[in-house]
Amino acid sequence: MKVFRLISLLFILAIAYPARAQKPGVYNAIYSGTPWFDDRGNVVSAHGGGIIKDNGRYYFFGEKHTDTSNAFAGFNCYSSTDLYNWKFESIALPVQDTGKLGPNRVGERVKVMKCPKTGEYVMYMHADDMGYKDQYVSYATSKTVTGPYTFKGMLPFNGKPIRKWDMGTFQDNDGSGYVLVHSGEIYRLSDDYKSVTEQVIKDMSPECESPAIFKKGGVYFWVASHRTSWERNDNFYLTATSLKGPWTARGIFAPAGTLTWNSQTTFVLPIAGARDTTFMFMGDRWSYPLQASAASYVWQPFTVSGTTIFIPKFMDAWRVNTTTGAVSAVAISNQTTEPKKTITYKGQWQHTGTGDTAINNTDASGAAVSVKFIGKQVGFYSATGPNGGYAKVTIQNSAGKTMLSSVVDMYSNYPVTALRFISPEMTKGSYILTLTPLGEHSKWSDKRKADYGSKGNVVSLAKVVVTP
Ligand code: GLA
Repeated sequence: MKVFRLISLLFILAIAYPARAQKPGVYNAIYSGTPWFDDRGNVVSAHGGGIIKDNGRYYFFGEKHTDTSNAFAGFNCYSSTDLYNWKFESIALPVQDTGKLGPNRVGERVKVMKCPKTGEYVMYMHADDMGYKDQYVSYATSKTVTGPYTFKGMLPFNGKPIRKWDMGTFQDNDGSGYVLVHSGEIYRLSDDYKSVTEQVIKDMSPECESPAIFKKGGVYFWVASHRTSWERNDNFYLTATSLKGPWTARGIFAPAGTLTWNSQTTFVLPIAGARDTTFMFMGDRWSYPLQASAASYVWQPFTVSGTTIFIPKFMDAWRVNTTTGAVSAVAISNQTTEPKKTITYKGQWQHTGTGDTAINNTDASGAAVSVKFIGKQVGFYSATGPNGGYAKVTIQNSAGKTMLSSVVDMYSNYPVTALRFISPEMTKGSYILTLTPLGEHSKWSDKRKADYGSKGNVVSLAKVVVTP
C-alpha cells in the first residue's frame, strides 16, 4: 500500500514538475568561435552585448536572437563568476507592446552601467526600424541588475534624440558615463545617466561601427570595426589621453587578414585582479540568418603596452583567474586512444590529407558523420572557408537521449582550420556526436543592400578531440 502511495506521489510530482533541460556540464575555459551552452542547456544568445560586474558577479547583457527574423526579440541577461559558465537570468528587456522597441523593430548593442549617483542600473541600446532608417539611442532603467528594465524611450540631448546606430558605453574611473555611436562620436551623460549633457567628440572616424572604449593608466583606447555589416573586417583603434582628444590612429589590433580573428568588436571588459588587470576583447561572429543558434563569440585577452594593443595569436581556449586577473592558455589535445573513438561517415565525403592534416568535406545531401566515444568532453576542428555551410551538431548519451544540440557555421571569408565545437565537461560516459549538413549557409544584405555571406554549403570535419 505504502509503495503504491509512493508511486502515485512520484507520478503526480512528475506531472506537476516536468523534467527541465539539465545543466549540460561545466566549462573550464573561455572558448572562442564555438556555441556556449547555458545552465539550461540552451545556446547563449547575447550578441552585440557587454558585461558589468556587480557584487562580485559578472552580468552579460546582449541581443536575444531568433533564427527566423532580425526583429528585436528582447535583451538577455546571463550571469557568471568565472566568465566560463553562464546562468540564464532573465529577458532583461522584453519586446514592448508598442513604440521604438515594439514588434517588428530592431534592438541592438545593449549595454548596462550602474549610475553612481542614483544607484540605478541604466541600459542603453540602439532602436531602429527593420530597414535601419529610424535609429534612436534609447535607454531603460531598473533598480536591480537583472531587471526587468523599464523602457524610457529616446535618450535626450538638448531635448532631442541622437539618431545614430551602433551604440557603446564607457564608464570612467570618476564615475562619469559616456555613450559612443557609429562614426566615432562620444557623448557625456548627465549625473543621473538619463540624458546627454555634451558631445565630447564628433565624427572622428566616419566609416566606423561598433565602438568600445577602455582605459589603462592614463590612456584611452577606442576600438571599432569598419562598416561591412555582419561580415568581419580588420578592426582598428585610436588612443588619446583625454576623451576630447586629440585621438591618434594606431592601426589594427589583430594580424592583418584575420578579420579580427573573424569577429566584430562589441565591448572590452577590464578583469581587475589582485595581480593584474586583463583587458578582454569581446567580439561577435555573426551568422545570419541563424543568429540564435550559429552565431558565436570571440573573446581574447589584449596585450596592452603603452599606446599599443594587440591580440597576437588566437587562443581556442584560455583561462583568466578572476581573483588575480592572470591569463593562461589551455591546450586542447586529443588524449583518447583510437579504439575509444569510432568515426563513421555516411553518404558522400571527400577525404584529403592524413593524420593531423586530414580534412573530410561534404556538401552532399544525406551525408552525416558520427563520432562514438567514451569520455567527458568532445570537440572538433573544421576547415572553414568562403564556401562553408551550416551543420547541425548533436550529442546523445548511451540511452539515445539528446544531451546537447546546436548549429555550427563553417563559413569564414578567409580559409582557416579552427575549433568549431567543444562541449562542456559532462559526466564521463559513452556518447555519440553527430554532424549533419543542413544544406544551407549564412547570407544577408546590409543596410545599403549589398550582399554578403557564404557561396556554398560545405561542411567539414578535421580533427576530433576527446577528453577522457
Ligand atoms: C553591423 C552592426 C550591427 C548590425 C549589423 C546589421 O554589423 O555593427 O550592430 O547593425 O551591422 O547589418
